[in-house]
Amino acid sequence: MATARSVVRCLVVGGTLSATLSLGAVLLAQSPTFGLGHPPSPELLSAIDIEVTPDGKGLATGSGTAAAGKDVYTRRCETCHGPTGTEGPQDVLVGGHGSLGTDRPLKTVGSYWPYATTLWDYIRRAMPFDHPGTLTADEIYGVTAYVLFMNGIVGEQDALNQATLPQGKMPNRNGFVADPRPDVPSKKRNEEFGNLEVRIRGLHSKLHIFQIPN
Ligand code: HEC
Repeated sequence: MATARSVVRCLVVGGTLSATLSLGAVLLAQSPTFGLGHPPSPELLSAIDIEVTPDGKGLATGSGTAAAGKDVYTRRCETCHGPTGTEGPQDVLVGGHGSLGTDRPLKTVGSYWPYATTLWDYIRRAMPFDHPGTLTADEIYGVTAYVLFMNGIVGEQDALNQATLPQGKMPNRNGFVADPRPDVPSKKRNEEFGNLEVRIRGLHSKLHIFQIPN
């Protein structure tokens, strides 16, 4: 069985391919051949090769403000995340600032997520939960801005786009630490893994590779 570390190593070997594709390659490499299926076409690969990195690579052209995104939020998100992003019934998106070190940590976009670009990426790939993939790039920029605005991270009229979104400073950007296990010296880890952190969360198979700042 692949350990988390061997998966990470294989992902890095996968080079510029997306995390999803590399993971697929790992599984293929480990499976016996049954003579089924066929290699995916470049079109199929490019349709799922959509991750956005913290430096903004992978973001689509477009722009949006919180003022514009409020309408998208009300129509497409509010039923599940609540009028102010705190009521649910699904994940709380707003608040929890300063709670991570307490015995009642509240992990939200505002309190926990280290990169603003991840929000754009995640909304594009997974939200609205019942109709993923239906928002335009401008709508995604707008609703991303609105979620960040509700968290007090951007202003109502700040225009988010390919250039400005990666500059967004998330409150918990320094809250992630390198692997502290003593058998994983950080120099060796950096050489092997190129400073990557992999997170796989939730039913919605959220797989993200983050660059950990040195
Ligand atoms: C039909 C219900 C539904 C709608 C509509 C919906 N979401 Fe979600 N959302 C969910 C569920 C369920 C999850 C948790 C998914 C998981 O963990 O796999 C979630 C998770 C999220 C998360 C991740 C929260 C975290 O901290 O992990 C974000 C961000 C998010 N939604 C934003 C949005 C935005 C923006 C919209 C509107 C464009 C939206 N959602 C519309 C149900 C919904």
